[in-house]
Amino acid sequence: MGEGAPPVLTGRDIAVSFAGKTILDVPALAVQPGDLVALTGPSGSGKTTLLHVLAGILRPDRGSVVWGETDIARLRQSASDDWRYRNVGLVFQEFHLIDQLSPVHNVTLPATFAHFTVPPELHRRAQGLLDDFGVPADAHLTRTLSRGERQRTAIARALLLEPSILLADEPTASLDEDSARQVTDTLIASARGQTMVIVTHDPIVMERCRRIIRLEHGRIVSDDVREPAKPSVAEAAP
Ligand SMILES: Nc1ncnc2c1ncn2[C@@H]1O[C@H](COP(=O)(O)OP(=O)(O)OP(=O)(O)O)[C@@H](O)[C@H]1O
Ligand SMILES: [Mg+2]
Repeated sequence: MGEGAPPVLTGRDIAVSFAGKTILDVPALAVQPGDLVALTGPSGSGKTTLLHVLAGILRPDRGSVVWGETDIARLRQSASDDWRYRNVGLVFQEFHLIDQLSPVHNVTLPATFAHFTVPPELHRRAQGLLDDFGVPADAHLTRTLSRGERQRTAIARALLLEPSILLADEPTASLDEDSARQVTDTLIASARGQTMVIVTHDPIVMERCRRIIRLEHGRIVSDDVREPAKPSVAEAAP
C-alpha cells in the first residue's frame, strides 16, 4: 500500500436513481493520481452518493468506475471490500466509529481485517496520528469525545494504512476554524502522492485543493483547476 503512483480513477456514464428519481448522472469523471479534489454543491446534490460510488460502497445502476485494471462498480461484495481495504481510506459523513472502543482502537480497526492482533507499529502509528490531531488516545471511550474529536478520530482511522485513495465526506464539518485548518493541513501533509477526493463546503479545505468540482441535482455543473493555497501554519508530518 502506498507504493508507486496510483492509477487514474475514471468514472464513465455513472447513473444512480432511487425510487425512479435520478440522483446522480455523471457521464465522465477522471481524477488524476495524487490530485487533491474538492467535491462541493448544495445539500442533496449527490456528493455523498458520488463518493460512495467511487469507493465501491454503492453500486451505480449504470456505468463504470475504473482504477487501474479494476472496474470497482462491477466487483462482487467480497472483492469490493478487499479492494477498499487495500486501496481506500474513508471518512464517512457520520464517522461510523464504535463508541465502546477507545479512540486508538477505533483507529486500528481497519488493521483487524487483515491481522489477528494489531501489529505494534500500526498501534504506534495510530497513537501518533491521534497525537497529531490532538485527540486523547487512550484516556476515554470514544463515546465521551466531542464531535470534533470524533471527526478527527475518523480521519486518523482513514489515514492509518496509508491508502492510495482518500475519500472524505465533510471532514471539517464539526470543527472550529483553527481545528479545521490544522486538520486540513495534516490531512494534506499526509497525502504523499495519494489521490484525495474531499466532499466539503469549507473554504479552508477548498482553498487547499487543486480542483473544485461542483454538483447540482446530481450533475457536474463546474469543474475548475487552480493553484492551491499553501498551508497557513507549519505542517506536522504524521
Ligand atoms: N438510500 C437512499 N434512498 C433514497 N434516496 C436517497 C438515498 N440516498 C440518497 N438519497 C437521495 O439522493 C439525494 C442525494 O443525496 P446525497 O446524500 O448524495 O447528497 P449530499 O450532496 O451528500 O447532501 P448533504 O450535503 O446534505 O450531505 C438526496 O435527495 C437524497 O435524499
Ligand atoms: Mg452528504
